Amino acid sequence: MNHFLDIHKTDPAALRGMIDAARSVKDARRGKPKGARDADQPLAGHMVALIFEKPSTRTRISFDVGVRQLGGESMVLSGADMQLGHGETIADTARVLSRYVDLIMIRTFEEQTLLEMAEHATVPVINGLTNRTHPCQIMADVMTFEEHRGPIAGKKVVWTGDGNNVCASFLHAAGQFGFDFTFTGPATLDPEDEFVGLARKSGVTVQIERDPMKAVAGADLVVTDTWVSMHDSQSSRERRHNQLRPYQVNAALMAAAKPDALFMHCLPAHRDDEATSAVMDGPQSVIFDEAENRLHAQKAILRWCLGV
Ligand code: CP
Repeated sequence: MNHFLDIHKTDPAALRGMIDAARSVKDARRGKPKGARDADQPLAGHMVALIFEKPSTRTRISFDVGVRQLGGESMVLSGADMQLGHGETIADTARVLSRYVDLIMIRTFEEQTLLEMAEHATVPVINGLTNRTHPCQIMADVMTFEEHRGPIAGKKVVWTGDGNNVCASFLHAAGQFGFDFTFTGPATLDPEDEFVGLARKSGVTVQIERDPMKAVAGADLVVTDTWVSMHDSQSSRERRHNQLRPYQVNAALMAAAKPDALFMHCLPAHRDDEATSAVMDGPQSVIFDEAENRLHAQKAILRWCLGV
């Protein structure tokens, strides 16, 4: 049984296999209506639980559609509406769900919830985002980069802004896919030391550079995310905005990267805060390809988890 809990916990050959499978299945679907089933129906007879303790547009819809395209069935559950949100333990929830469904995808707050779900479930568990990481997003982002620019190995990826959960999964991917990673942002919002150390240990170059213009020199990819994540308090909003304003992705910053550098944002975005609309809608932006590729990448993840 394969859980998909984090990129750094997944074998690099398996990760590569998933990216390649996602690209093949995307190619095979070209020109078909969104509701059309894939030629292959590996999830026929399978039931998937999609649990959300936080809001979601992309993750919820792309998993739901992906399961159906693969011939399976899914149920979207709000954590608050389940007994999980009213005191039932995660361990008991995991054991009960495992009697009904073939796979559990969960978006939750604390990483510990995900880990306990995986420990006690007897079916595969997928991390649909925690406060700490967002691996499905970065699988889609690696796929998107490679569609546009070829292998990501050896490239320079620059994250600008908050060293949040999406940034953490990019760091994990740097180690597993072999690309260099530079973080630029205020020291108070640095990515976790543990994740920086892990990536460095794998042999890739990881740099922390406070000057965003210096950071993006030679960048093949510039990435940012919202300045206030779902788990951040709204009272920190003004402080965060003041700290992060110098790290906005705008035309001047993109001009300091390589001329063919791509721009990514996992969405949802606060336009003209972390990135200007001119960049988001400009020729270097691949933000909607990233969103689409959530669907294809997650179908490959589902198949890997279930071994089908
Ligand atoms: N990028 C992402 O995970 O989007 P949602 O929060 O809409 O799922």
